Amino acid sequence: MRAVDLIARKRDGHPLSRDEIRWFVAGAATGAVPDYQTSALLMAVVLRGMTPEETFWLTEAMLHSGDRLDLSDLPGLKISKHSTGGVGDKVSIALAPLAAACGVMVPKLSGRGLGHTGGTIDKLESIPGYRADLSVAEFKEVLRAVGTSIISQTATLAPADKKLYALRDVTATVESLPLISSSIMSKKLAEGTDAIVLDVKCGDGAFMKDSALARALASSMVDAGARMGVRTEALITSMDAPLGRAVGNAVEIEECVRLLQGAGPPDLMSLVSRLAVRMLVTSGACRDDAEGEARVRTAIASGEALDRLRRMIARHGGDPRVVDDPSRLPCAAHRAAIVADRPGYVTRVGAGLVGRAAATLGAGRTIVGEPIDHAAGILVAARPGDRVSAGDVVLEMLSNDPAALELARPLARAAVLIADEPPALPSLVLDSVR
Ligand code: URA
Repeated sequence: MRAVDLIARKRDGHPLSRDEIRWFVAGAATGAVPDYQTSALLMAVVLRGMTPEETFWLTEAMLHSGDRLDLSDLPGLKISKHSTGGVGDKVSIALAPLAAACGVMVPKLSGRGLGHTGGTIDKLESIPGYRADLSVAEFKEVLRAVGTSIISQTATLAPADKKLYALRDVTATVESLPLISSSIMSKKLAEGTDAIVLDVKCGDGAFMKDSALARALASSMVDAGARMGVRTEALITSMDAPLGRAVGNAVEIEECVRLLQGAGPPDLMSLVSRLAVRMLVTSGACRDDAEGEARVRTAIASGEALDRLRRMIARHGGDPRVVDDPSRLPCAAHRAAIVADRPGYVTRVGAGLVGRAAATLGAGRTIVGEPIDHAAGILVAARPGDRVSAGDVVLEMLSNDPAALELARPLARAAVLIADEPPALPSLVLDSVR
């Protein structure tokens, strides 16, 4: 086969065969196909799309580019969860210990933030000492002891995705349904779980701005899971406003702790609980939603979910005392408020702008590998629907860099809209795909 022929066929809108896709992916991963040809094919896929079959073959080829975790020596049902990425999306950090406390095992590989979206690993690394780079053997030990462990992506799982994603990032080829679907599902399937629950974010602060596209992405990923024999379902959830009240790293850990103490913000609590219930039902641990909801309530009220978080942190080398004393988390030296310039109702707290402002404050990075300020972030004081008076604080910015506060101010200010009439508030869960 010749890469140039496959590029030309895709350029002209023709489908590729399973063997051709396998050959290309294997070549891209090993370097046998040079980056310029891989990039050209990626752009042809962005412009011409892929059929559902091609998308699945691409997922399969990326999955087979590396190892698949064998978790069969661990007891019980294993279930994974993945979000397509958002602002203030700390769900996994509360959900994984909660679901583990409810009786399922949650092995989780997570990523770092890039651009305006945050990353679970960056948030966990704000806990002093937390190690996300465990070996597979250490990962399994934590799973056996605690029921959940969250680590960073390893080099041996879906290495083709690592290669393709890095190229996509710098060739304007991220926004493509077949490429996003295969990227996420090859990694999730490599985790070797019995079931997967996906949180497909939709709206201003998400990759998929439009609900039809989010549904199509969800269907494609659910289809890939089903074809590989892994029970998969997706919730499509709104990402127009940040989730909860904290956006950043340490501040999001603190919010997760409060949530597992039973005092989290209602939107975050409702999403975490909905996803936990679906994890319990999809994996077969609970018969129906009502049984799942009862288990979730008990796991929080008994303190068992919080204790799993404490134990997971300790097993990862982190300071478990942050759970009882959040002042041990990094704390920003500088703060600045954005206040309401008029009385009225908050109609919008734009997730995209809040995410960009938080990244500007130091909570995120614009270049892979850049250090971040774990204490930086934004606290959302007024959410859509809240009534405010002129001068009320609507957002609070946190950073260790006073100059960053001034750079982020116009972004944060533009994120909040206030009007005379209260807004219609959309529901957080927009749809589900099974
Ligand atoms: N997350 C991924 O892992 N891959 C994508 O392509 C987009 C989001």
